[in-house]
Amino acid sequence: MSDRDALPKLGVNNKGPRGELPFYGRRKGRPLRPQMQKYYDELLPQISVPRDLETLEGLFPHNPKDIYLEIGFGGGEHLAAIAGAAPECGFIGAEPFMNGVASLLRHIDEDGISNIRIWPDDVRLILDFLPEACLAGAYIMFPDPWPKKRHAGRRILQASMRDRLARLIRPGGSLRMASDHPIAKTWLLAEAMADDRFEWCASSAKDWQNRPEGWPETRYMAKGVDEGRASSWFDFKRL
Ligand SMILES: C[S@@+](CC[C@H](N)C(=O)[O-])C[C@H]1O[C@@H](n2cnc3c(N)ncnc32)[C@H](O)[C@@H]1O
Repeated sequence: MSDRDALPKLGVNNKGPRGELPFYGRRKGRPLRPQMQKYYDELLPQISVPRDLETLEGLFPHNPKDIYLEIGFGGGEHLAAIAGAAPECGFIGAEPFMNGVASLLRHIDEDGISNIRIWPDDVRLILDFLPEACLAGAYIMFPDPWPKKRHAGRRILQASMRDRLARLIRPGGSLRMASDHPIAKTWLLAEAMADDRFEWCASSAKDWQNRPEGWPETRYMAKGVDEGRASSWFDFKRL
């Protein structure tokens, strides 16, 4: 049996790949309203990343030169906004939370967006199948902080994730991360800085204290702003 045959079914709490910890987040929330269920049943199969993907050629009708990955897109409003503003690029969004996927599908349909492909599951399950240096960049926006020390292994940016991203992001490509949680911020920054395949692009405090120009808010960020939390933005370059 090949590794691909061994991929678990969607929507079940599976083991992580390569013996890593499983995905601990929510996969389902409230039952979907009929229109959202229709998006999930009918639109998702048309634009999801195939499980047997070997090349990104043909994944998007316009064969974009630059393809970006958003890890954990939540409700997808941020991904829809950046993809809508850059129709010449391609975007892959990964998110196991079904209600979030349905929400992104609604944006895609209502805004007529054609340059997003969705992986509706744990991102780690697909990364090993993508070809080397295929990405112009990746974003991790406000990942679950898992602040307790004993849960540190659940944080999205592990050494294994750095290895995957270093393999997939082409030299000169970007890794952008944001958080408003003190422990998560320190973790993200320290993990990425300890990796000599990535270089932190900040030259002054304003580079990490301010949301990059033209970069939309995410739903989670907006909630943090309402609750008085300051966000930090970390831009790294793949060397
Ligand atoms: C705190 S939410 C932030 C959502 C969104 N980025 C925002 O800023 O509004 C973190 C998201 O990451 C997703 N996530 C966690 N682990 C993931 C994984 N292994 N693969 C893909 N998404 C993941 C969760 O399901 C959740 O929706």
